[in-house]
Amino acid sequence: MHDDHDDDHDHHHHDPEMEERIFKSDDFQHARSEMEKILIRPGVRASKNPTITRRVFIHKALLAGTAAGAAMAGWLPRINTFDVAYAQQGKPTETFRFAWISDTHLYPKEVNTRFVEKAVRAVQEVQAMNPPADFLIFGGDLAQLGDPVELELGAEILKEIKAKKYFIPGEHDWYLDMGATWNKMFGVSPWTFDHKGVRFIGLDTISRAADFWTVRKMSPKERMGHMATLDGGLGGAWAGVGVEQLDFMTKTLSNWPKDQPIIIFSHNPLYEYYPPWNFWVRDWQMVHEVLKPYTNVTNLHGHCHQVLYNEIGGIRSVGMLATSWPWPYAPEGVPQLTKPMTRVDPGDPFDGVGWGKMTFDPKKLEVGYDYMMWRQDIFSDSLADSGTGDNPTQHVYPRPEGR
Ligand SMILES: [Fe+2]
Ligand SMILES: [Fe+2]
Repeated sequence: MHDDHDDDHDHHHHDPEMEERIFKSDDFQHARSEMEKILIRPGVRASKNPTITRRVFIHKALLAGTAAGAAMAGWLPRINTFDVAYAQQGKPTETFRFAWISDTHLYPKEVNTRFVEKAVRAVQEVQAMNPPADFLIFGGDLAQLGDPVELELGAEILKEIKAKKYFIPGEHDWYLDMGATWNKMFGVSPWTFDHKGVRFIGLDTISRAADFWTVRKMSPKERMGHMATLDGGLGGAWAGVGVEQLDFMTKTLSNWPKDQPIIIFSHNPLYEYYPPWNFWVRDWQMVHEVLKPYTNVTNLHGHCHQVLYNEIGGIRSVGMLATSWPWPYAPEGVPQLTKPMTRVDPGDPFDGVGWGKMTFDPKKLEVGYDYMMWRQDIFSDSLADSGTGDNPTQHVYPRPEGR
């Protein structure tokens, strides 16, 4: 599969029967239990205190009128909110919100305006948030092929958001000039800051690939092309955190109370979701080792372009939506705690994509996550998916017109 999106619709080969067969096969179940033995240490899981409940809000939302009108009208369906209710008292008490946008994959305007429109729409909606976002995190893949024209277009679009902006890179932003333009325009990662009782860390998970291009005498464009391929063999296991950033995390967290909230931003998921598509970082076990002492860790990541939740040890991972296109779920390799949720509708370019809204309530020490998903109609409904004990079954049914 290639990230080559004149038509997003080529990427959906959803065959529920086949998936069911794979899922039920002995091989698959065996692989899963092997994986769990490695991933889930005995007696360790995301702390019960914070307790997690996950709410899903389904609104029958019919899209009418223009994007801008819709943004103003507040029609957006809110799905997949989960709360982290923290039973401990104390620490500053001010509710705040922040927004996530990632994976805009902008082409130059002459090539493709559809992704431009969606990025603009997300920006308008973030800017219209009321109460406003304290800051925006841009989670990488601003550009499609790392072209400075694309990065500048992205910066121009994001300028409309007046709140403070933080950036981490994606592989599509990087491999044309090895991050030179990105770092100059958006700053170098990793970084950290504290905000109202939460420690935030931004990681660069994309710049540490082994050099596969020099001996092959690849041009920067060819190198970028390989990195812009979902299942590219040459880029191989390019995603990683690296020793310096592991040290950075260790140092940054050494003075942080073990039970205080930590939110880590990364482009790639910090676990092994599906290596054939590079949905992982290769040194994820080391990352988990560094984070093991901390009991309230949330990782927000991009790159997978889909609704995704997972919990490994004490760490919960939330995959955020892309604005550009939704990837299908990986055919295998998802640890059991992940329950795939709402399937996307391949016939609707606004379905399965969007941005993210986070609300932190320090009175209860509670973080709420809203996927701001754009869709013309609701065809699927999930009460909960976090695998934390309060999860009724997922219900999926066809769109009314498809019945
Ligand atoms: Fe992406
Ligand atoms: Fe990516």
